[in-house]
Amino acid sequence: MATRLSVNINKIATLRNARGGNLPNVLQAAVDCEHFGAQGITVHPRPDERHIRYADVRALKPLLLTEFNIEGNPVDSFISLALEVCPHQVTLVPDAHNAITSNTGWNIKKHERFLRDTIAVLKAKNIRTSLFVDANADMVRRAADTGADRVELYTEPYAAQYIFHREKAIADFIRAAQAAQAVQLGVNAGHDLNLDNLAYFRRCIPSLLEVSIGHALISDALYFGLESTIHLYLKQLR
Ligand code: PXP
Repeated sequence: MATRLSVNINKIATLRNARGGNLPNVLQAAVDCEHFGAQGITVHPRPDERHIRYADVRALKPLLLTEFNIEGNPVDSFISLALEVCPHQVTLVPDAHNAITSNTGWNIKKHERFLRDTIAVLKAKNIRTSLFVDANADMVRRAADTGADRVELYTEPYAAQYIFHREKAIADFIRAAQAAQAVQLGVNAGHDLNLDNLAYFRRCIPSLLEVSIGHALISDALYFGLESTIHLYLKQLR
């Protein structure tokens, strides 16, 4: 099964926002990522718009030729934006308002009703839905009960442990991916994936449909350039 690379362009927006102008041009960068081989573009608009802005998300939609994935905490403004833009996929993430980045998956037991209602609204617009979850087989099974199409496995714990003991690091993720397959949920993954740990993750989880990668990929691009970096990441997924 092929695994798609979706490039998270939030970091490019962060760089642009540092000066208040339009350098680098976020929209052009997204189009270029696709041109260089990315099979999707991910954005994570936060209510304070400190990275990608809501206006960027609206402007991106007609420009993109690949899969558009909007991820974020389903607060009212986020859901309104998603329904207006109608991307291919919306990934629901329980990130706290003041968190630097997403740092946990959903507690679906606690939020099941809210998630089920939210997913129903998105699915009525034919938007594929994915839930950001920890590598926990029980949580994955619960995700299926919400009506979600996919789960995105939160890979920060994998990345943190990979450097010490990769077999141990991947074990829960293999179990979670198997649980997802058993309940017919697709599997995406993201967070702290990089050129060192990506190929092993992909090899151990053959059902992996998509990875969304931002921080490491954009950092690598400082050294290798965006085009070569995307090629390097695509090579890890082959
Ligand atoms: N998936 C989700 C839900 C995220 O919040 C992020 C970070 O914004 C990523 C994937 C990508 O993580 P990274 O920037 O570490 O590649």
